[in-house]
Amino acid sequence: MSSPGRRSRKRGPAPQQRSGPPRGRSGPARPPEVDPARHAALELLTSVRVREAYANLALPGILRRHRLSGRDAALATELGYGTLRAQGLLDAVLAACIERDYDRVEAPLKDALRLGAYQLLRTRVPAHAAVHGVVELVRVQAGSRSAGFVNAVLRKVAERDEAAWVDRLAPPAADDPIGHAGFAHAHPRWIAQAFADALGAVDELDAALAADDARPVVHLLARPGEITAEELALVTGGTAAPYSPYGVHLEPGSGEIGELDAVAEGLAVVQDEGSQLVALALARAELHGPDGGRWLDLCAGPGGKAALLGGLVALDGGTLDAVEPEEQRAELVRGATKDLPVTVHAVDGRDSGLPEGAYDRVLVDAPCTGLGALRRRPEARWRRRPEDVSGLGKLQRELLLAALRHVRPGGVVAYVTCSPHLAETTGTLAGVLRRHKELEHLDARPYLPGVPDLGDGPSVQLWPHRHGTDAMFLALLRRPA
Ligand SMILES: C[S@@+](CC[C@H](N)C(=O)[O-])C[C@H]1O[C@@H](n2cnc3c(N)ncnc32)[C@H](O)[C@@H]1O
Repeated sequence: MSSPGRRSRKRGPAPQQRSGPPRGRSGPARPPEVDPARHAALELLTSVRVREAYANLALPGILRRHRLSGRDAALATELGYGTLRAQGLLDAVLAACIERDYDRVEAPLKDALRLGAYQLLRTRVPAHAAVHGVVELVRVQAGSRSAGFVNAVLRKVAERDEAAWVDRLAPPAADDPIGHAGFAHAHPRWIAQAFADALGAVDELDAALAADDARPVVHLLARPGEITAEELALVTGGTAAPYSPYGVHLEPGSGEIGELDAVAEGLAVVQDEGSQLVALALARAELHGPDGGRWLDLCAGPGGKAALLGGLVALDGGTLDAVEPEEQRAELVRGATKDLPVTVHAVDGRDSGLPEGAYDRVLVDAPCTGLGALRRRPEARWRRRPEDVSGLGKLQRELLLAALRHVRPGGVVAYVTCSPHLAETTGTLAGVLRRHKELEHLDARPYLPGVPDLGDGPSVQLWPHRHGTDAMFLALLRRPA
């Protein structure tokens, strides 16, 4: 089977007229051929739908159960993740290929149809292999009648390529540029709208959504004091990140990340370069008065930024308090920061009992919708709802207000979200700044040296299409001395 790749307009020959075992009267039927990579991908879709699993957490167990490694594991991952990312687009195409109401198609068949449609529209898997593989799976799991239905629908999908389906089904770009870009790059309309609002114009929306829809590059953090980015690049075969002095980018297909020696030995962890940049900006921001090396991470789970901040503060003999109310996540923070001068507190950041007016630097990496990291969470864009945004606003505000109580005069608070949604970024910030007119809203841009296209400041919004990072937001607030 040829390896899949994104967005090829070329396709192989038309699907076979008949797929599956011969069903004539003469001769015994041969057993259906079930391809383990597609089977694993389908199981991933089922887990996400039935158990509301996070794809990245469910996948490793599924790959193990199917004994998949190397190229087969990569194929299963690509097919599973790709199908989840593209779900809305695939559903629209499938609905156009089915005469009866698509909503009434049984959910397991929808999973199989999506898996087939994804391969047909967004990979280089030859059409006959894409259709045959899925039809055989359905035959085993649901019988010949369902297999026949799936075969017929997928053959209709295969009549056009992705661009032709977008032309036919998307809202016209001239009338509704946001709806068109959202459809074409498989994003719900409300998320496309949120991106457009944060960009301030629709000109860049197409590029932003396309980058958000692409398979992301894996970023590693070279843990400060443990290994340099150059050494990490050398031992992993990656390349030094363009902006973070601790970052390394891995080429796609670099294999199982956990199997890299540097990761297994705890010298490096997976962390988006944008996350590194916002944590580094807090560590670099100018304080009034000396840095006493007492830092606080108020929303620490699972511990990515705590590991970086803890490593940095340790270099100067300081300490970090890390707060995470969910015990399981607090345990992850303990694991991520072991051997560092980090104390983990499994308490609510709004009422942690930690000292007030005491910390030089405080990070509020607020619970948010995560709309800025959709490319790394394949199922999230179709699971999130607009009402999630308003539900989080109060918590974000209260955590930021708590951080302002903990920071010492002359100290700095970083307000960070992995979402570009204005309600979670400038909206939350404006509510707090209205109540705290004494705060200095620092220009964050000088603390991200070398990073281009950061806008007019003082806050900073990173973007996948501009910076190759998740869409992280950062504001730096200094308490007057
Ligand atoms: C965006 S995540 C933080 C990511 C983390 N800083 C990292 O880099 O790995 C937000 C975290 O805030 C936690 N959280 C939720 N409510 C909280 C609260 N009331 N106080 C403190 N943390 C909270 C969530 O459990 C979640 O782990």
